[in-house]
Amino acid sequence: MPRRLLADLADVVGAGHVLTDPAIVAGYLTDWTGRWSGAALAVVRPADTAETAEVVRRCAAAGVAICPQGGNTGLVGGGVPPADGATAIVLSSTRLTRLDDVDASARAVGVGAGVTLAQVQRTAAAAGLAFGVDLASRDSATVGGMIATNAGGIHFVRYGGMRAQLLGIEAVLASGEVLRRWRPLRKDNVGYDLPGLLAGSEGTLAVITGALLALVPPSRSGAVAVVGADSVAHASALIDAVERAGMTLQAAELMTAAGLDLVHRHGLRRALPAGTRFAVLIEVAGADVGELAAVLDRAAAAAAVLDDTPAAELWALRERHTESIARDSSTPVVKLDLTVPAAAMDAFVATVQELAAAAGARPILFGHLADGNLHVNLLDVEPGRAEELTDRVLRAVAALGGSISAEHGVGRAKAPWLSLGRDRVDVATMRAVKRALDPDGLLNPGVLGL
Ligand code: MLT
Ligand code: ZN
Repeated sequence: MPRRLLADLADVVGAGHVLTDPAIVAGYLTDWTGRWSGAALAVVRPADTAETAEVVRRCAAAGVAICPQGGNTGLVGGGVPPADGATAIVLSSTRLTRLDDVDASARAVGVGAGVTLAQVQRTAAAAGLAFGVDLASRDSATVGGMIATNAGGIHFVRYGGMRAQLLGIEAVLASGEVLRRWRPLRKDNVGYDLPGLLAGSEGTLAVITGALLALVPPSRSGAVAVVGADSVAHASALIDAVERAGMTLQAAELMTAAGLDLVHRHGLRRALPAGTRFAVLIEVAGADVGELAAVLDRAAAAAAVLDDTPAAELWALRERHTESIARDSSTPVVKLDLTVPAAAMDAFVATVQELAAAAGARPILFGHLADGNLHVNLLDVEPGRAEELTDRVLRAVAALGGSISAEHGVGRAKAPWLSLGRDRVDVATMRAVKRALDPDGLLNPGVLGL
């Protein structure tokens, strides 16, 4: 049966786009963290929505599961097939790279699911506009995957996440039918928000093939500074001072001395003064760096402000965290992306440090502080202890009223803990939606745990 299906799929997408060579397929089967990997009959790369729909129909008829995959930059195992032997294909969006002309009057652009974030940003800039979402993996992360995970990123505080940028969507349903809402209207209040439902659905409800994205006016001159802080509460007070000074906050990124130390060891030389426990990178629009530094100087008292360093170098301090952390750990990093209520941040950081020390692991924290979003990275975790440590940290965040997933999604990594994030009725309602749209459970099985 699999051989017959693969021949059928080759008829649809061309033999060169049904990949089975283990050496080539391997890169699609393991996620970026190296923690999550699975098995698949093949990687299938349709060229457009019609081919995607035909692939879905043929897989459904054969009872073969479909795992949609974009740039494979996800961090929760949601973009790789299951390891439990389920028969699946990886449906790669690599060739869904349609890029329409920018609709300048509507401030919108239609793109295929396989277009990278960097391409969207360049396209918007060429039309004198900007895209509201930005994140470090911009050169590989694709629009389809970013919608499927409802990616947040560094400018969430100003523009929201991917869901907020969606004017329309095109997606193939499990039945093989194509759902297309494609009107570049800001206000269009007819019935359920289906694009919004697919944002964050992690490939479990439909295969996203394209999106109509809202664009924003570019920001007037921006300013970036990094400032030291004694505690997370202190860092939050600095952000508050900047906003109260009337500046438009675009990003507020928390870092720790331990994280900055890693980044320095892995390539960057610019250091904060010794003794600084935390640092926060603050980016504002509509003010110059002198004005920003003056507000921070007043609010930070003795803390050092790096404002004479080029913005790109300051951003590199923050954006190099993910890679430096991965390179420094002796085992695949346990990455927990969480939201913590502002008042509980410092207590939570102390709890994570205790839990990690008790498990012989090394914690490196950073994150999008203005959104309450902490990235807890646990290095050198013995593989057999990853689940237990994850359980303790997620229970701690739930007990504080936080969220077990801020922006990376649930994927396979957090599926067993879904009930810590949503109550019984909520989970049952999500299950009902899943059953209605994917009655045979063929779309990304195991992801989200529904
Ligand atoms: C980031 O903010 O850099 C990303 O969420 C990646 C990460 O958490 O490592
Ligand atoms: Zn992040």
